[in-house]
Amino acid sequence: MLEHGRWAQRRASPPAATMGRRRAAAGDHHAAGAMMTSRFSDKGTPSARLSRAEFMRWLGVAAAALIAPAAPAAPAGAPRAAPLLTRRIPRSGEAIPAVGLGTWLGFDAGSGAAERAPLAEVLRRFFAAGGRLIDSSPMYGRAETVVGDLLAELGLTRPASGAAGGGAVEPFLATKVWTTGREEGRRQMAASLQALRTGRLDLMQVHNLVDWRTQLATMREWQGQGRLRHIGVTHYLPSAFGDLERLVRTERLDFVQLPYSLALTGAEQRLLPAAAAEGVAVIVNRPFEGGDLFRAVRGKPLPPWAEAFECRSWAQFFLKYILAHPAVTCVIPGTAKPQHIDDDLAAARGPLPDEATRRRMVAFWREL
Ligand SMILES: NC(=O)c1ccc[n+]([C@@H]2O[C@H](COP(=O)([O-])OP(=O)(O)OC[C@H]3O[C@@H](n4cnc5c(N)ncnc54)[C@H](OP(=O)(O)O)[C@@H]3O)[C@@H](O)[C@H]2O)c1
Repeated sequence: MLEHGRWAQRRASPPAATMGRRRAAAGDHHAAGAMMTSRFSDKGTPSARLSRAEFMRWLGVAAAALIAPAAPAAPAGAPRAAPLLTRRIPRSGEAIPAVGLGTWLGFDAGSGAAERAPLAEVLRRFFAAGGRLIDSSPMYGRAETVVGDLLAELGLTRPASGAAGGGAVEPFLATKVWTTGREEGRRQMAASLQALRTGRLDLMQVHNLVDWRTQLATMREWQGQGRLRHIGVTHYLPSAFGDLERLVRTERLDFVQLPYSLALTGAEQRLLPAAAAEGVAVIVNRPFEGGDLFRAVRGKPLPPWAEAFECRSWAQFFLKYILAHPAVTCVIPGTAKPQHIDDDLAAARGPLPDEATRRRMVAFWREL
């Protein structure tokens, strides 16, 4: 596994540690975001809070332009982008778009307009294209608060009663609990609901299996009360696959979140088949190995045969490999860049590689 240094650092940090250091570790990431601010200025985003109806009208006007990646103006009469591939959550039957959005690092931003404008644009394009699932965690510094604030600006906050908004744009909010102890877990989950400005979350997950027995017990109780719609567990290391599989088989989970990529295919052996057999939805984290996959292909062209499954970028190559596995419900690339969310979402359109092509993709990757 291409484990990134910051992940090793993070594992050593206690849950209560401040997140400022992580932003420093990701300095280039955030510097890039700040540099983009002039391009994605307030002119492109609603400056005041919009009602859902206003937001929908605004989306309707903007959608055709927003959906096109790399943003050259589409010629008049050009076809609109196809809808995103969706997959059903086995336990609830709800269909969700198969590409979501991760918020680790990228959404751990301050409150200044310069830092927030590109993130607002990421969310605007995400929802305009039909995206729904956003994954966060109290471990991600200010990410939950930033998502909550920006959803409020977009008029997409779920009412405090927890009732679903029922509009065409319906965020599917997933976050995690990452602490030990019953009371601290309850406090942290309540804080997440508050930061995300909702009375009901679509998915609560035990982050990295920390104190999972205690936290799952509270999550089941809150699920019974309607405060959590789905519950699950996560990890990011293959060394946890055995534990994840055991929980998938014994705990009646709605979701399991795991690492899976062209460079890290171990989940195919037992964990993905176990999730499929037990009716557990699968969220794939770290689809680009935290960005390392892009570094491995820098300057290299896509193979010509990728055109057969309408793959136009390395991001789509990596994501379509994951999406073509039938056990995968949703993959959550992390990005803070508007053009990258366009690119990532495009992987959920058009054909996916068949099994023979997937084997060819792995062989191609190993020979790079
Ligand atoms: N234990 C857990 O529960 C756990 C662990 C890890 C991750 N997660 C979740 O999984 C999500 C994804 O993992 P991750 O964010 O660590 O890593 P990742 O999605 O594998 O990679 C993120 C990196 O890819 C870049 N990127 C995204 N789209 C791109 C594109 N189209 N072209 C070029 N570069 C692109 C991003 O940079 P830009 O910002 O510049 O686009 C960022 O540097 C996290 O955000 C988090 O929500 C959960």
